[in-house]
Amino acid sequence: MNNVMEIKNLSCYYDKIRALEDISLSINKGEIVSLIGANGAGKTTLLRTISGLNKSSQGSIIFENKDITKLPSDKRVKAGIAQVPEGRGLFSVLSVEDNLLLGAYIHKGAQIATDLEAVYKRFPILKEKRLEYAGTLSGGQQQMVAVGRALMSRPSLLLLDEPSMGLAPIIVEDIFAVIKELRDMGTTIFLVEQNAYLALQYSDRGYVLENGKVVSSGKSSDLLHDDSIKEAYLGG
Ligand SMILES: Nc1ncnc2c1ncn2[C@@H]1O[C@H](COP(=O)(O)OP(=O)(O)OP(=O)(O)O)[C@@H](O)[C@H]1O
Ligand SMILES: [Mg+2]
Repeated sequence: MNNVMEIKNLSCYYDKIRALEDISLSINKGEIVSLIGANGAGKTTLLRTISGLNKSSQGSIIFENKDITKLPSDKRVKAGIAQVPEGRGLFSVLSVEDNLLLGAYIHKGAQIATDLEAVYKRFPILKEKRLEYAGTLSGGQQQMVAVGRALMSRPSLLLLDEPSMGLAPIIVEDIFAVIKELRDMGTTIFLVEQNAYLALQYSDRGYVLENGKVVSSGKSSDLLHDDSIKEAYLGG
C-alpha cells in the first residue's frame, strides 16, 4: 500500500513542557487512521504539528515522499493537507458560503466555483443556507461547513479533530458516513477522537496516545478487542 505520510521520532514542546515525545506513525493511501487518547494526551498538538500550526522540535514529517517538517502551513495546504480543527473554527458572523470560500484561498477562478458546487452537492442543506450566518446553523450543519471548507482545498489527506464533539448520536452517524464516503473517493483520513469506540469502529487502523507518546497501535478491529484498551478507553 502507498505511504502518504510518515512521521518519525517527532517531539514537540510548549515552552519547556513536552507535549509530544518521539512519535512515529505512518498513514497509507486510502486509509482511515484514528488517533485516540484522553483529554490532554496531545492529539490536537499532533494534528497542528502535521498541518504546520505548531513547530516540532525534533523528528520529521514526510508527506507524499517530501520532507515537509519545516514547511509553513499554507504550503502544506497546497501540498494537499487540510485540517478540520477542534471546535470547527468557523467565523460565526460570516455566511456559510464565505466560510467555505476561505478554504479555497490557495485556488483561483473557475475551480473555486466547481469545488463549491461539489460541497453543495455533498451537503445540500448548506446550499439552502448558504447566505445565512454560520453561527445560526445547528452543530451538525456547522461541522458540515467545517468539513466542506477543508474540502475546498482538494486535500489528499484530511485531518479531523474530534468531529463528533457536541453532536447528537444520529448526527454523528451522518458525519461519519460522509467521512467514509470521502475515503471511498480517494481521500486519506487521519481522525482524532476522544470517542474511542466510534473512532475504532470507523477506522482501518488506530494509534493510542498517552501523555504525548504512542503506547499502542494496530488494526482497529484488534484494538477494539484489546483488554487494556477496552478497560482504559471503551468503558471496560
Ligand atoms: N498553547 C498551549 N500552550 C501550552 N500548553 C499547551 C497548549 N496547548 C496544549 N497544551 C498542553 O499540551 C498537552 C496536550 O494538549 P492537546 O490539546 O494537544 O491535547 P488533546 O489530546 O487534544 O486534548 P483534548 O482531548 O482535551 O482535546 C496538554 O497538557 C495541554 O495542556
Ligand atoms: Mg484536542
